[in-house]
Amino acid sequence: MAEQLWGGRFTKSTDEMINEFQASIHFDKRMYHEDIAGSIAHAEMLSQCNIISAEDCKKITTGLKNILQEIENGTFSFSTDLEDIHMNIEKRLTENIGEAGGRLHTARSRNDQVALDTHMYVRRETTAVEKLILNLQQAFVETAKKYSDVIMPGYTHLQRAQPILFSHHMLAYFSMLSRDFSRFKGVYERCDIMPLGAGALAGTTFPINRKIVADKLNFADIYSNSLDAVSDRDYVMEFLSAASILMVHLSRISEEITLWCSREFSFIELDDAHCTGSSMMPQKKNPDVSELVRGKTGRVIGHLMAILTTVKGLPLAYNKDLQEDKEGLFDTIDTIKFSLAVYTQLLRGMTVKKAVMLKAVQEDFSNATDLADYLVKKGMPFRQAHSVAGKAVHYCIKNKKWLEDLSIDEFKKLSKLFDTDIHAAINPENCVKNRNSYGGTSYEQVENQLNIARELMDKEQQLLDSYNQKQIII
Ligand code: ARG
Repeated sequence: MAEQLWGGRFTKSTDEMINEFQASIHFDKRMYHEDIAGSIAHAEMLSQCNIISAEDCKKITTGLKNILQEIENGTFSFSTDLEDIHMNIEKRLTENIGEAGGRLHTARSRNDQVALDTHMYVRRETTAVEKLILNLQQAFVETAKKYSDVIMPGYTHLQRAQPILFSHHMLAYFSMLSRDFSRFKGVYERCDIMPLGAGALAGTTFPINRKIVADKLNFADIYSNSLDAVSDRDYVMEFLSAASILMVHLSRISEEITLWCSREFSFIELDDAHCTGSSMMPQKKNPDVSELVRGKTGRVIGHLMAILTTVKGLPLAYNKDLQEDKEGLFDTIDTIKFSLAVYTQLLRGMTVKKAVMLKAVQEDFSNATDLADYLVKKGMPFRQAHSVAGKAVHYCIKNKKWLEDLSIDEFKKLSKLFDTDIHAAINPENCVKNRNSYGGTSYEQVENQLNIARELMDKEQQLLDSYNQKQIII
């Protein structure tokens, strides 16, 4: 059992099982970079404020950089006895540089230290997630452009409703992802606040300068209340909530992709490299990726519920319960990053079956609204036109025909307002072309959406570049 950094008031060493139970090193070690960057900034500030000597500061920063090397080349040995990443690093520092190492924790508590590390970690990972969202947005735009002439049935109630462009459908997902991007931008902004200097809960008796630390670590703001600084986990909840909504979006496209590659739909074909087979049924080609992403949505939502529930009844300020913020957060980060990356590939490898999609439009009644609209344009009130179109559909079902098969005489029997231009009006391509209201499915409107998408992606890229300039390099 290693000697605990807080062992002074204890007469016994920690029970083995309790020790293992309360340790977080096995998951919080992934914040080592943030912990070291934060400690370097803290030490430099202490020195600038004449709280520690410049000489000690130099020893500390060099020592911390050596530890960074040790961790990155795999020679650092992490110990459960030292609980967490903060104490593992501090203990090693003191072993290496002696007394100066013991001065690093002046005017600091692990409560504000862990808050600092987690803020920096979430900030960095939020950037990584946004980059992956942008890549997936790009894949949706590419797919929309690649299949710009494909017409498919749009659905309501999973029943064929009106003809739409397949690109229009793809761009709906682009729009959802744009909101996801902007939600993560909001997470970043509200996470960009510096908690260090709050101490354990009440601030510190030392003449520290928190602005120095904030500037060194590129924080936009500083927590103005020390109790809030150490007990705020809003940014974790917000990250998980943005992640849950993102996963819900991916789950919706997953459901569609899974349906579309079933024999019943047969609208798309996924790349062989993106599917798996069955150990028993030789014919199977299963869309595991879309199913798994749909499945993983549950666990991300679960992590959101967990953190909300954990924080819900907590009194101020720090409570050990808060250590439970990390595993769900880390698992969510891994899950959404992997899902986004995999989805980008899946889309790029997808083949769309134009003829099958068109057939699903032609051999159905998704042009019935267009039939009604035609009559309205000839002067009939919409309610009446709706009824005539309904009768036309009924007539077709009885006589095993589609609307386009009806002769002009048959149409005229339904209403005198029908003329020879009716066939053109209900032809799928024209049905699409005519839905030219802003945001509609017409070729022109979809082209407009593509232009908006391009502009938006440029802006998103600019934001990511500005984040990159704020990246902390040790
Ligand atoms: N490992 C702890 C956490 O993640 C660090 C803070 C511990 N502070 C304390 N007083 N025990 O929350």
